[in-house]
Amino acid sequence: MLQRVGEGGSLSITMNIIIALLCILTNQVISQTKDIFPAKILAQQTIISENSDLYVTCTTLERKKDSKVFIYLLKNGRGIQNLTQKQDRSDTKFSIPRAGLHHSGNYSCVYSQKPYTLSEVVKKGDDIIEILVIANFLPADISIVGPSTVHEGDYVEFQCTVSQHLHTLGGCKFIYAYLRKNDMILQVQVFNVSQMLATFIIDSAVLKDSGPYSCIVLPSKCFYEHEYTVHGTNNLFLEVKVDLISLGLLRYGVITLMVLLVAFLCGSNNKQANADMLEK
Ligand SMILES: *[C@@H]1O[C@H](CO)[C@@H](O)[C@H](O)[C@H]1NC(C)=O
Repeated sequence: MLQRVGEGGSLSITMNIIIALLCILTNQVISQTKDIFPAKILAQQTIISENSDLYVTCTTLERKKDSKVFIYLLKNGRGIQNLTQKQDRSDTKFSIPRAGLHHSGNYSCVYSQKPYTLSEVVKKGDDIIEILVIANFLPADISIVGPSTVHEGDYVEFQCTVSQHLHTLGGCKFIYAYLRKNDMILQVQVFNVSQMLATFIIDSAVLKDSGPYSCIVLPSKCFYEHEYTVHGTNNLFLEVKVDLISLGLLRYGVITLMVLLVAFLCGSNNKQANADMLEK
């Protein structure tokens, strides 16, 4: 029992030492960044498409005028860019040219009178904006309705879906989807974002339709109904006529084939008959 109390005592001493050490460390971190202050953050657009330029503005309204200020842009609480604010200004514009998907995140700004390295700056305050970078192309899941082996002339239906949550530009309800075979875009369809579905159809399969198919959705390309106006020059009507000559040739060919077949069958019958006669 006594021993146990002793153990407990040494444990609490160890705990105290650890807590004291932690306090010292925390104080050091705080004192290191004590002169880093929160700044306001603004962005004209918080949802942008991939490869477009991202602009955010950091504003330091409360600071003393006429003093040099270092301003830092943070993403998910980590410093990613720094600029020196012009002396007569209270805002600084940061730009990320050709933003990629990895630039999606929660952005904030801080400033200080002393220069710090990006790894030294930490998030202060709760002024945060969420930036979403929307993919231009996203591979989607493709499936075939029915068996994946069909016969010539069969109807084939492909379904294209996206399993993860799909962010679109400006909350688009409809976007575009491509059906690709190898590297060729075969069909373009409208992808319904609420149903997460696009359907592609091959009305009557031919032999050369065999091959690997894939589907791509374009989350940054909104589809609007009545988007296109067509008139004389960008609009034409294609008429496909049944060719009488080739139809004639086809008929002629079929007849010829039948005649040959009959002749062949008769011939083999005759041969059989001849063979029978010889045997006798
Ligand atoms: C921003 O922060 C919120 C809350 O922590 C989180 O749910 C969200 O996923 C973050 N956004 C991004 C793009 O990381």
